[in-house]
Amino acid sequence: LASTEVELAPIAEGQAITAMWRGKPVFVRHRTAKEIEEARAVPQNRLIDPATDQSRVKPGKDQWLVVIGICTHLGCVPLGQKPTDNRGEYGGWFCPCHGSQYDTSGRVRHGPAPANLALPDYAFTSDTKIRIG
Ligand code: FES
Repeated sequence: LASTEVELAPIAEGQAITAMWRGKPVFVRHRTAKEIEEARAVPQNRLIDPATDQSRVKPGKDQWLVVIGICTHLGCVPLGQKPTDNRGEYGGWFCPCHGSQYDTSGRVRHGPAPANLALPDYAFTSDTKIRIG
């Protein structure tokens, strides 16, 4: 499938779901206000792959983070979809393969991963639906 639609309404705050798009897992996370605040408070010079939180979400849709769920080190799928998962020290995702950690913006905060979780092309088709691809 060239594009994938995802219904956002069933995704509770603090939770994420995994959609499949072109054979890749895509994480769609409903961030809490605290998670957004934490992502925005980090100075850029503390980041391995600097990027503002705002550049990683759609304007006015700050609670929705959509990233490709493939670790940028060697391609494992990081953990952290459920609040009870090990999300690492930065509250985002933890890669069980070699210990990379990502924050609530999907930015790498601890290596060996060299880069942030990639962003797929997507658009909101309504307030509660996105189309990936
Ligand atoms: Fe994720 Fe190596 S594949 S840390």
